[in-house]
Amino acid sequence: MALVTFSNPEYKDKTVYAVAGSHTETLLKLAKEHKIPVNHDCQDGECGHCVVRVTSIDKKTQRMGYHLTEKEQTVLRQLGKLSKDQIDQLMVDDLPSEWRLACQMIVRDEDILVEY
Ligand code: FES
Repeated sequence: MALVTFSNPEYKDKTVYAVAGSHTETLLKLAKEHKIPVNHDCQDGECGHCVVRVTSIDKKTQRMGYHLTEKEQTVLRQLGKLSKDQIDQLMVDDLPSEWRLACQMIVRDEDILVEY
């Protein structure tokens, strides 16, 4: 069970439980289930409207690397959030990107802060 805290200056922070491990639940799906107004449009990693900043606030586990899909890498580069060199370095170091697309990010067993 992971705790996911959604934070936006216009709304009160909201922390929800995420059932991790299914490898099917995206961050966007979790937000929608809990009526958290994360921007979105295509829901398919194409438009970039759902970009969020993700920070680990988990004290019990080591940071886990996240695999960025090709689509996600392309959109995050187009948005100017990550450069090709930064993406390559994250892969080499097996570290997570602080910028993600909520519709592409699968929730895992790690407590995170999501700024949207
Ligand atoms: Fe379009 Fe996520 S909703 S990229």
